[in-house]
Amino acid sequence: MSDSAVDLSAVPAHVACVMDGNGRWAARRGLPRTAGHEAGLDALFDTVDGALEIGVQWLTVYAFSTENWTRPRDEVRFLLDFNRSILAARRDEMHERGVRLRFIGGRDRRLARSLLAEMDAAAELTAANERLTLTVAFNYGGRAELTEAVRRIVASGMRPEEVTEQTIRANLATADMPDPDVVIRTSGEHRLSNFLLWQVAYSEMVFLDVLWPDFGRAHLFEAVAEYQRRERRFGGLDR
Ligand code: IPE
Ligand code: IPE
Ligand code: MG
Repeated sequence: MSDSAVDLSAVPAHVACVMDGNGRWAARRGLPRTAGHEAGLDALFDTVDGALEIGVQWLTVYAFSTENWTRPRDEVRFLLDFNRSILAARRDEMHERGVRLRFIGGRDRRLARSLLAEMDAAAELTAANERLTLTVAFNYGGRAELTEAVRRIVASGMRPEEVTEQTIRANLATADMPDPDVVIRTSGEHRLSNFLLWQVAYSEMVFLDVLWPDFGRAHLFEAVAEYQRRERRFGGLDR
């Protein structure tokens, strides 16, 4: 599909992706799971290019969940090292394209200081870019994010009756971002797996059977076109 199927006057401001199916992609080729993660990288950058092409302003991708630590140690280590090397290798390219890079998720001791330093350097380098904000959810879980928000609110000494939805929103890692208009999940699974639980209250869900390494801008356009055919109601009646 080309971008001609997309109505450029109604492009979603925020697209979120659960990049799933890397392991199955590799298994089908008789390759180790890690080869699937490597192949998934091209899919991500093609998706970023597609988002830039149609003018998506916020793209948030799920790269490593708080539950992914339960995977075999070698796979976890690969994913951590891999993300560090991607950042070092691709951050200048993202910067040249006008992409602002951000990271959401726990900065706990399981993440090497060198990885955190790469994340900070990439975020700092690209902080003033305005074309597209690419937020990478890494060591991210929606429940952990909400728990952290509650802790901060309690620690602030706020009175219970002062706490509003706005208070909670302001204490999430996504405080200054609009909620996702559309969430795309690849690989045929129909679940959120702890991604952006608060933020997806009224997001449109698009589930595609394609495995993430086979995903690219054409699938992004297909998902955006599907989103544009939906009628969003937000609890009200037809507008
Ligand atoms: C998504 O692909 C990448 C991560 C969760 C890090 P998977 O690794 O979950 O691949 P499948 O779902 O096993 O095919
Ligand atoms: C969700 O995929 C997490 C990421 C894409 C990073 P998983 O493969 O971990 O989710 P489940 O285990 O199928 O729910
Ligand atoms: Mg998976």
